[in-house]
Amino acid sequence: MANEATKTATLSIDGEAEPIELPVYQGAEGPNVIDVGKLTAQGYFTYDPGFVSTASCDSDITYIDGDQGILLHRGYPIEQLAEHSNHLELCYLLLNGELPSTEENERFVSTIKNHTMVHEQLRRFYSGFRRDAHPMAIMCGVTGALSAFYHDSLDIDDSEHRRITAHRLIAKIPTIAAMSYKYSTGQPFIYPRNDLSYAENFLQMMFATPCEDYEVSPTIAKAMDRIFLLHADHEQNASTSTVRLAGSTGANPFACIAAGIAALWGPAHGGANEAVLNMLDEIGSVKNIDKYIKKAKDKDDPFRIMGFGHRVYKNYDPRAKVMQQTCHEVLEELGVEDDPILEMAQALEKIALEDEYFVEKRLYPNVDFYSGIILKAIGIPVEMFTVIFATGRTPGWIAHWNEMISGPYKIGRPRQLYKGATKRDYEPLANR
Ligand code: SDX
Repeated sequence: MANEATKTATLSIDGEAEPIELPVYQGAEGPNVIDVGKLTAQGYFTYDPGFVSTASCDSDITYIDGDQGILLHRGYPIEQLAEHSNHLELCYLLLNGELPSTEENERFVSTIKNHTMVHEQLRRFYSGFRRDAHPMAIMCGVTGALSAFYHDSLDIDDSEHRRITAHRLIAKIPTIAAMSYKYSTGQPFIYPRNDLSYAENFLQMMFATPCEDYEVSPTIAKAMDRIFLLHADHEQNASTSTVRLAGSTGANPFACIAAGIAALWGPAHGGANEAVLNMLDEIGSVKNIDKYIKKAKDKDDPFRIMGFGHRVYKNYDPRAKVMQQTCHEVLEELGVEDDPILEMAQALEKIALEDEYFVEKRLYPNVDFYSGIILKAIGIPVEMFTVIFATGRTPGWIAHWNEMISGPYKIGRPRQLYKGATKRDYEPLANR
């Protein structure tokens, strides 16, 4: 539905005879937006490196209030979803806009369960990688390759094709993820099981072997499900924006999700959970924390406290609070009394939150600060942490891709402030 202006922004520019009038739109929540689309015709571009002040699209899916530390998925607060819902129900909500009825939920869960296997030939794809390949490299490659197996459903203008593709990706991404782990260990791949829940199935594909089943602890499975749920979606973050940009060219959804996985891999984004554990390992002991806080504050030192800070949250990331509580539940279930890594993380958090640099810059723990400690306690290796994030985030990526493709959209094509050489003539080699 086209936006209607609720106000007008008037832009007066030195030397321009007439001010430029720009429509202002109001959303259901959050800041109003100024539609700058007509500026090009007036000979101007907007300039916003990193898109700090740019709304790239309309969306109904997720709302974040960074100042208040609020995160809503289709209007439901993340705290309530973490407490009462589960990852597959949230997948349904993100895709369809409403919570499922009992019958809709049963049908959705059954559909997902019946798409968890990957094509048998996809298994051979893994053998092209070195055993020590980073699993995110495998995830990018294998997910992108899925489009080679599903020629029957690549018409992005067909809503039924979009629906089956969404189900296939949500169902298969945990299988692909667990296979990337098994491949690194030299153990055989473990087939999915339809008698288990989404998180239980993922854990058994990760840790079962042909010699013995993996007994899934209900607390660990609940923690795993909650980790997937907390990562499911987060508005127009870097990887979701990547999926939308790739999708805006008409690329197939498997290629778009592979692009999202690639963008998520960076340590400033989804790679931060792995970077937090590596950072805590580097700090080594509580007595070294002050030294590293100093490094983080030193403009000339590239070191940052990983898992801290956020482009949008200038308050506690509500997911980090739930993650911290889950961390205590898992460590208690595992009978881990005083986990040195957790102790160091809590000491680091306390010191940072009391330091005027972090207070002034409004830097708080984000979703990645505690997630790695839980994953490590569950027995998931550090290099698999971002794979877990990608597995959780897949429904969000697909929901945004589907939201864009099901309505009117344009190919994304930003412009630039050109600061290079002005026009000059070619100089033959002999004269140079
Ligand atoms: C995720 O966008 C999303 O929604 C992402 C995500 C999702 O669910 O999709 O929430 C997931 O990616 C969480 C963020 C994970 N990344 C990290 O934990 C890496 C460490 N954090 C930083 O790299 C940083 O905070 C970012 C990248 C997260 C945000 O960077 P911004 O918004 O570009 O902010 P900035 O780099 O301009 O920082 C503002 C100031 C700077 O100082 P000044 O230049 O103003 O003097 O704060 C400083 C930064 O130097 N700063 C930090 C810091 N983060 C920012 N200083 C020390 N340690 C940090 N972690």
